[in-house]
Amino acid sequence: MLRTHTCGELNLAHVNEDVVLCGWVQRIRDKGGMIWLDLRDRYGLTQLLFEEGKTPSEVLQAARTLGREFVIEAKGKVIERVAKNDKIQTGSIEIRITGITILNPAKLPPFLIEDETDGGDDIRMKYRYLDLRRNTVREKLQLRHQVARHTRAYLDDLNFIEVETPVLIKSTPEGARDFVVPSRMNPGEFYALPQSPQTFKQLLMVAGFDRYYQIVKCFRDEDLRADRQPEFTQIDCEMSFVTQEDILNTFEGLIRNLFRKVKGIELPEVPRMTYADAMRLYGSDKPDIRFDMKFTELKGEDQDLTSGSNFGVFDEAELVVGVCAPGCATYTRKQMDELTDWVKRPQIGAKGLIYVRYNADGSIKSSVDKFYSEEILRTWAEAFDAKPGDLLLILSGQADKARKQLNEVRLEMGSRLGFRNPDVYHVLWVLDFPLLEYGEAEDRWFAMHHPFTSPKPEDIPLLATDLGKVRANAYDMVINGVEVGGGSVRIFERDLQQQMFGILGFSPEEAQEQFGFLMNAFEFGAPPHAGIAFGFDRLCSLFGGVDSIRDFIAFPKNNSGRDVMIDSPSIISDGQLKELSIRVENRV
Ligand code: AMO
Repeated sequence: MLRTHTCGELNLAHVNEDVVLCGWVQRIRDKGGMIWLDLRDRYGLTQLLFEEGKTPSEVLQAARTLGREFVIEAKGKVIERVAKNDKIQTGSIEIRITGITILNPAKLPPFLIEDETDGGDDIRMKYRYLDLRRNTVREKLQLRHQVARHTRAYLDDLNFIEVETPVLIKSTPEGARDFVVPSRMNPGEFYALPQSPQTFKQLLMVAGFDRYYQIVKCFRDEDLRADRQPEFTQIDCEMSFVTQEDILNTFEGLIRNLFRKVKGIELPEVPRMTYADAMRLYGSDKPDIRFDMKFTELKGEDQDLTSGSNFGVFDEAELVVGVCAPGCATYTRKQMDELTDWVKRPQIGAKGLIYVRYNADGSIKSSVDKFYSEEILRTWAEAFDAKPGDLLLILSGQADKARKQLNEVRLEMGSRLGFRNPDVYHVLWVLDFPLLEYGEAEDRWFAMHHPFTSPKPEDIPLLATDLGKVRANAYDMVINGVEVGGGSVRIFERDLQQQMFGILGFSPEEAQEQFGFLMNAFEFGAPPHAGIAFGFDRLCSLFGGVDSIRDFIAFPKNNSGRDVMIDSPSIISDGQLKELSIRVENRV
C-alpha cells in the first residue's frame, strides 16, 4: 500500500508516529511562513502542515505548486494541533510534513468539491465522478451499500438464494414500454431488457428453488419523475408453498430489520389497509399516513348533507368530499385564492375549491354562505369532527376524480403544516387491490399489477360476471406515501392463467406465442407461489430522507433519460446499423 493510514483515522493516540497519507488536495491556506493543506479521501480530512525552517525547503517549494484536487502522497509525523477542530474526526492532530510526491496533478475542477457546492445540476451530472467525491453524495451510496448488505444477510438467514436471471429477454405487450436490443445473429429480431424478472422467478419456483431473491437491474421506458429512473434496481423475491400472510410477515420482517440495522429505528407493527379504504379515506393507493386528515364525505354513498340548498355544483356532483386542515381558519382571503388557483392548475384540474372557516371564536364562515345556512355549515363541521380554528377544504364532482384531486390538496396541506417530516417513518401495507382496471381509451381490461397475479379465490366466480369487482391477492408496501414495494400471490394453474390472458384480450394463440413458456411450465408440477419486489433505489432514498432517487444511483440518467457524462443515448454508425439489419429513414 502507498499509505499507512487513511485521512479519517488519525487522532491523539497516533502522536509522534511517522505516517504516509494519500488523497486529494481539498484546500490550501498559505500564510507565508506556514502552509496548511486539507487532504481528503473517502474516509475524511487530515490537516497537513508545512512550516518554514522545519519543513525541508524543496518540500515547501513543492507544496506551493499544488492545486485543488491534485492527488498526492504525503509523509510526515503526527503532532497535536494547537487550534483543535472538533467538527472533524482528525481535528485534534495534524501532520508535520517531511516529503510529498505528486501522484497526479489536476485541472481546476468545474465546481467546488465540498458539501456546499457552487455547481448546478447539469455540470455536476456531466462530471459525476467529481460530484461523487463530495461527502453528501458519497454517503448516499454508502447508505445504499448498507441497505444491500443487510438485505442479503436477512434473506440468506431465511434460506433464500440469489439467482441471476437474464438481461436479454423477450418483448411482451403488457406493462410499461420495453427497451429493446437488436440481434445481429437474428436479423430483424430484437431482445427486450427486463422490466422485472417476474416470469423467471416464477420458473425458478417451478424448478423447486423454493426461496429466491435477487438485487437486480430492471428497465422501463416510461416518463421520468423524481422517483423513477429508466434503469433502476429491485430487491426481487419469490417463495413457494406460502400464503399471502407468509409473504407479508417475511417482508415486514425484512423492512423492520433494515430500519433497525440501517437507521436504528424500531418500527411498530405495520398496519394494513384495503385498497378500497385507502381510496375512500385518502384518495390514493399509497396514502401518506404520517398524518391524519382523512377524507370526510358530505355527499356520498352514506349521507348527503348538501342537498336542498340549490347549490348546483354540489347538487350535480357524484361526490362532495373534503379534508379538515387543523388550525388553518386564519387563512386569509389571499391565501385561499392562491390555494384555489393551485387546485385549478392542469396538473390537478379541479374546477374550484370550497372552504369553510370554523373560526377560533366559534363562528363559521364559508365560500358558499349564499347557499348554506350557518346551521347546515355546523352539521358539516361536526361531520368533519372539526375544532374551532380549523379550515374545511371541499371538492366535488365525479367520485374518482374528486378523490384524486383532494389527495393532492391533503398532501399539500400536510406539507405546509409540517406533518411530512422525512425523519418520521410510517409504513403501511395496502391489500386487496382490484385484479383488473378498465382502459377507456383502449376499450379493454388491463391487469392492475401484472397478468400473473391471482384473483382472490372467493372472487373467481366474478371473472365471469363482474370483472371490475374481482379483487386480487396483491399487496403494496407504502412508506410515507411512497410505493416502495409490491407483489402478489401468483396464478400457478395453466387454465386460470389462460383464462386471465383471454380477459386481457389475448387469443389463445397469442397467449401461447407470448407466454407459452410459462403456461407450459405450469403443466409440469408448478408449486403454489407468491412474491414481492421492492424498489431498492426508493427504499434507499427514503432512508436518506430525500424525494429523488437520483443521488442514490452512482451514475443516473437525467430527466430526459440521458447520461450526460458518457453522452448516451447516441447515434451509431451506418456500419453498425447495417450489421444489425436496421434501416433508419430520416437520420438526423
Ligand atoms: P412493480 O412494477 O410494482 O412490481 O415494481 C416493484 C417496485 O419497483 C419500484 N419501481 C421503480 N423504481 C424506480 N424507478 C422506476 N421506474 C420504478 N418502477 C418501479 C417501485 C415498485 O414498488 N414483478 C413485480 C413484483 C412482483 O410481483 O413480485 C414488479 O415489478 O418501488
